[in-house]
Amino acid sequence: MAARRWLLLLFVGLAGGGAHGQVDNLGFVSIDCGLPENVVGYVDNDTKLRYVSDMGFIDTGTNHNLSAEYLKPSIGRIWHTVRSFAGGSAGARSCYTVRSLVSGLKYLVRAGFIYGNYDGLNRLPVFDLHIGVNYWQTINVSVAGVMAEIITVVPGDSMHMCLVNTGSGTPFISSLDVRPLENKFYPHADESQGLVLVSRTNFGASDTTFVRYPEDRFDRIWSPWSNSTIWSVISTTEKVQNSATNGNDTFEPPLPVMQTAITPINSSSPIDFTWDAQASTTNNPKPGYVWMLHFAELQPTGVRQFYISLNGKSWLMNGSCTPNNLSTTTLYSTKPVYASNQYNISLDATVNSTLPPIINAAEIYSVIPTTNIATTVQEVSAISAIREKYRVKKNWMGDPCAPKNFVWNGLRCSYAASSPPTVTGLNLSSSGLSGNVSSSLASLRGLQYLDLSHNNLTGSIPESLSQLPSLVFLDFTTNQLSGSIPSALLKRTQDGSLTLKLIW
Ligand SMILES: *[C@@H]1O[C@H](CO)[C@@H](O)[C@H](O)[C@H]1NC(C)=O
Ligand SMILES: *[C@@H]1O[C@H](CO)[C@@H](O)[C@H](O)[C@H]1NC(C)=O
Ligand SMILES: *[C@@H]1O[C@H](CO)[C@@H](O)[C@H](O)[C@H]1NC(C)=O
Ligand SMILES: *[C@@H]1O[C@H](CO)[C@@H](O)[C@H](O)[C@H]1NC(C)=O
Ligand SMILES: *[C@@H]1O[C@H](CO)[C@@H](O)[C@H](O)[C@H]1NC(C)=O
Ligand SMILES: *[C@@H]1O[C@H](CO)[C@@H](O)[C@H](O)[C@H]1NC(C)=O
Ligand SMILES: *[C@@H]1O[C@H](CO)[C@@H](O)[C@H](O)[C@H]1NC(C)=O
Ligand SMILES: *[C@@H]1O[C@H](CO)[C@@H](O)[C@H](O)[C@H]1NC(C)=O
Ligand SMILES: *[C@@H]1O[C@H](CO)[C@@H](O)[C@H](O)[C@H]1NC(C)=O
Ligand SMILES: *[C@@H]1O[C@H](CO)[C@@H](O)[C@H](O)[C@H]1NC(C)=O
Ligand SMILES: *[C@@H]1O[C@H](CO)[C@@H](O)[C@H](O)[C@H]1NC(C)=O
Ligand SMILES: *[C@@H]1O[C@H](CO)[C@@H](O)[C@H](O)[C@H]1NC(C)=O
Repeated sequence: MAARRWLLLLFVGLAGGGAHGQVDNLGFVSIDCGLPENVVGYVDNDTKLRYVSDMGFIDTGTNHNLSAEYLKPSIGRIWHTVRSFAGGSAGARSCYTVRSLVSGLKYLVRAGFIYGNYDGLNRLPVFDLHIGVNYWQTINVSVAGVMAEIITVVPGDSMHMCLVNTGSGTPFISSLDVRPLENKFYPHADESQGLVLVSRTNFGASDTTFVRYPEDRFDRIWSPWSNSTIWSVISTTEKVQNSATNGNDTFEPPLPVMQTAITPINSSSPIDFTWDAQASTTNNPKPGYVWMLHFAELQPTGVRQFYISLNGKSWLMNGSCTPNNLSTTTLYSTKPVYASNQYNISLDATVNSTLPPIINAAEIYSVIPTTNIATTVQEVSAISAIREKYRVKKNWMGDPCAPKNFVWNGLRCSYAASSPPTVTGLNLSSSGLSGNVSSSLASLRGLQYLDLSHNNLTGSIPESLSQLPSLVFLDFTTNQLSGSIPSALLKRTQDGSLTLKLIW
């Protein structure tokens, strides 16, 4: 024990002290939202992970403490503060941007929400979350708090996580975790769909045991589930092998999770557990579900053989399951399943079985499409450079063009099936711009309309604008520009392919 403690401390030293930028040495991003501006971060008591303030991840919203009656020592420090996004109307989007990720890698993203009457209104809000340019889930905050988690492939080297005001209260957030997985994990999650966590259960664990990092190297959280009226607990201190021996273990439930299991007290009863299908929403009309059931034999004292059924129908092509002695077997649905209202998984002993069924752990996810495509990196960096140069406020957060109904104010985009959207119009008329005309404008290759009228722009019109192939309208009315009009632009106005408005 002493040695283990020491190792842990050494490890914490590395994870905490050596970290620079947004991602720590494990590739983790751990954000405590709403920390006061003078607090950079701290090491979390439970996980020994270093949590940082959200300052570098978002530039909107305000910090709040939970109201005094909720600030009990029993609730971890991470829950003491929130960042909230008041003042927005329905449709307003506020986005965190996490950088330095690995493009194309699968990540677990987890957001936590504990309201704690931070605003003194005692009114629990409902709002939406988006992951990148896609709807993730609707958050209906309860008094006890809500955790939302998704497993998703991150298309670029940065990722937006946005809170969307849906007209039912002010969005807020307490924490945001990003954890890299390996791409062979959770094969259902890919470029076109993500897995939204419904539950991740550690059967037979005691009520207060939440297994996560470091026992789970990906920091998934495994919640305990026991019921001493109907289930008895079986456990072992022996090592339970991962099925990784064949190189194809795609889930890796952690050891302490696999070391406990449940079995029915009445040995002729099945084990069953149920969950309700989500109410259909316009964002995700009828979600399908996938699940992973993790088994290992912990008490090999006879024949244990059981069928698995879903809503009374055999699952697993009518085969039966016999968990291996101290070795993990994971059975999972390869495709999303769509049932009507309720999902009921039942494990029933076969006639030949001398032992009742057993289960160690289960994960249940709903599937969401992630088919909206983000604006290209080139256009995003061009428009971001324009935003920085002119310090544009407006609602310029998240992806500039996607999703369609969240396009940045003053931007017009065109959308084509299965290719990224393109910026076709930029209107920064009367926006208080000063300085010269940004050379990044010429990187918006699809630009047709550019209105920079009624600002204080100085210098000359860049030659490079004449290389925009689709430009048909250019308005520089009322600025402080000087110099001559580039000849190529002049030529296009003369042949009628470009309307140029220009009153110095
Ligand atoms: C939250 O509480 C801390 C310490 O109790 C205090 O320093 C900070 O100013 C408070 N923040 C806000 C936004 O009230
Ligand atoms: C960690 O635990 C110690 C001892 O229980 C406590 O004094 C400290 O405030 C805790 N730190 C945080 C960040 O919760
Ligand atoms: C949010 O949850 C509350 C309590 O469970 C429920 O009454 C309400 O209808 C829910 N709101 C939405 C928009 O789902
Ligand atoms: C335990 O199971 C019994 C019988 O199914 C049920 O009535 C009870 O609500 C369950 N208890 C918990 C805590 O789930
Ligand atoms: C892993 O799975 C792939 C396909 O799913 C299979 O081709 C390969 O043989 C498996 N490897 C091992 C070591 O079982
Ligand atoms: C055990 O379960 C079986 C089948 O569900 C039932 O017939 C029997 O009455 C149960 N026995 C007890 C003691 O509850
Ligand atoms: C189960 O595995 C353990 C450890 O490998 C071994 O000691 C034990 O004999 C095995 N039990 C059976 C019934 O195979
Ligand atoms: C689940 O299915 C089993 C077997 O089909 C059945 O005995 C049980 O009553 C069902 N439970 C619920 C809650 O529907
Ligand atoms: C499973 O069993 C049912 C009848 O119990 C049968 O109709 C069905 O064809 C079987 N499916 C497979 C894949 O064997
Ligand atoms: C049960 O055992 C008998 C005799 O060994 C065998 O014929 C039968 O197929 C077994 N049934 C199941 C469901 O495994
Ligand atoms: C740009 O926006 C202003 C109002 O903000 C509007 O008057 C003007 O017509 C717009 N320009 C274009 C090209 O749509
Ligand atoms: C230009 O700048 C001057 C002073 O710097 C300011 O008074 C004026 O309103 C600005 N004009 C526009 C159109 O922003």
